[in-house]
Amino acid sequence: MPDVRAVHWDEQRSALVLLDQTRLPAEVRHLVVEEISVLLDAIQRLVVRGAPALGVVGAYGVAVAMQQGAREGWTAARMSDEIARIASARPTAVNLSWGVARADARRSDGVAAVLAEAHAIAEEDIGANRELSRIGADWVCDRVGHRPLRVLTHCNTGALATAGWGTALGIVRELHARGLIEAVYADETRPLLQGSRLTAWELADEGIPCFVLADGAAASTAQRGLVDVAIVGADRVARNGDTANKIGTLGVALAARHAGIPFVVAAPSTTVDPTVSSGDDIVIEMRPEEEVLTFAGTPVAPGRVRGFNPAFDVTPHDLIAAVVTEHAAVTPTGADVAEILRGIA
Ligand code: MRU
Repeated sequence: MPDVRAVHWDEQRSALVLLDQTRLPAEVRHLVVEEISVLLDAIQRLVVRGAPALGVVGAYGVAVAMQQGAREGWTAARMSDEIARIASARPTAVNLSWGVARADARRSDGVAAVLAEAHAIAEEDIGANRELSRIGADWVCDRVGHRPLRVLTHCNTGALATAGWGTALGIVRELHARGLIEAVYADETRPLLQGSRLTAWELADEGIPCFVLADGAAASTAQRGLVDVAIVGADRVARNGDTANKIGTLGVALAARHAGIPFVVAAPSTTVDPTVSSGDDIVIEMRPEEEVLTFAGTPVAPGRVRGFNPAFDVTPHDLIAAVVTEHAAVTPTGADVAEILRGIA
């Protein structure tokens, strides 16, 4: 596996460092973050993205705010406002506000304590991803068969989207380690191409066979019998198992149901939101119209039309064969599954 660190804290600089995912795969470049305005811009431009990675960034962001506040003499009210801005920089992935809140709870103990909390969140995320990958791979083998598999995935859920290893892509990695991956079909994931730019980059680096396909090709590929299982990540899982994930995920779930293959959601328990009872209550981020009206900066629609650009959709629980966390693989039936998924029940 390549040494992909989407997020880390540079001790010497005492600064947050992000791998700039907007430049991949063309260029590996890092962004040093020492100010909240830079952090907010990085989160909103998707320099760093993916729910678990956003949780880690949110936690380190509290340390960035504390250091900037100390340099600039912020009032307590200003500090709280800036930290709240980090938490709400993107609304759909629950991990961002969760990571901020967890680190913020240590603020009164000083920057070192906040950093220790952020490091712990990152470590825990890697551990959770490894465990859910084992559970998910076992579930897939039991359900689909212990044989080389063709997996369809959407968006990027790998090391780049997490503190390391990955969720849905973590299951793919685990299956590959068991010699059970024939091929991965990676939806390109319009409009920002997390599938072709990031997932394919991660898989190619490890020699895992991968086809990039247009999002619109996913349904027919499944329908033609070329896919054994669809595995995706999550930005927020509601108590009943309804799952928000990258726009286009619902289409994959509907296609999987029609093709008779299982549709699996993989996420660490930190992505399960016990305060949200169903997908109806999940806020869907709307992104700039230009992202769908242009391609690589070139207009691809007439100037007089508007763009409509929801970043996520919600897949209803009844289309999901299993939600997999580091605690359990659960088939949601409409009952409250949050505590099982969070390892509390
Ligand atoms: O807009 P993004 O790139 O942050 O969206 C990411 C996704 O939808 C991922 O599937 C999800 O966050 C899970 S990442 C392990």
